[in-house]
Amino acid sequence: MNVVEVKHPLISHKMGLLRQHDISVKAFRELVSEIGSLLTFEATRDLPLEDTTTTTWQGDVTTEQLAGKKLTLVPILRAGLGLNEGVLTVIPCARISVVGLYRDEETLEPVPYFEKLTSDLDKRVALVVDPMLATGGSMIATIDLLKKHGVKEIKAMVLVAAPEGIQALAEAHPDITLYTASVDDKLNEQGYILPGLGDAGDKIFGTK
Ligand code: URA
Repeated sequence: MNVVEVKHPLISHKMGLLRQHDISVKAFRELVSEIGSLLTFEATRDLPLEDTTTTTWQGDVTTEQLAGKKLTLVPILRAGLGLNEGVLTVIPCARISVVGLYRDEETLEPVPYFEKLTSDLDKRVALVVDPMLATGGSMIATIDLLKKHGVKEIKAMVLVAAPEGIQALAEAHPDITLYTASVDDKLNEQGYILPGLGDAGDKIFGTK
């Protein structure tokens, strides 16, 4: 698996602000969106282009446009929704495929309970977003599901990744690329990333 820890001064600065313990819901949401936009810029660097003709004030000129069916954004419920706005700022036409998972209390495995996917998935690049890659369970299950529906090229995008999650994702899906703003130290016994952000879903939705 290709892991890209996106290094950029704006991302580092915004990640520092995002980690503040007393951050407001508003500031947390805004920063998640802003970092999401910056990561999307990197995650879309290799999208294929094709030539087209544009009629300009100087007559016809050869220009470039994105080729093919473009992208589907895949937020994983619930926290992944927090990244929608930031991604759509950069790719406003992206189709959105939403996936929700619950944890089976016996097997402890994530099980999909909601999926509303776009058409032509076999022709689209999927950008799966979730703020945190902790154990990797939800991301792995979402990518399993997308592959079952014929998606051939998948990119995962998170704000913070734990080494344990990266390893599990690499073992399950070695063919994908993971983009992250930070690879943090480790998981604690409760499955939280250290230093991490705490519960990103609660901070985005203002719950708890
Ligand atoms: N989910 C979160 O929101 N935070 C973590 O640290 C791990 C999983």
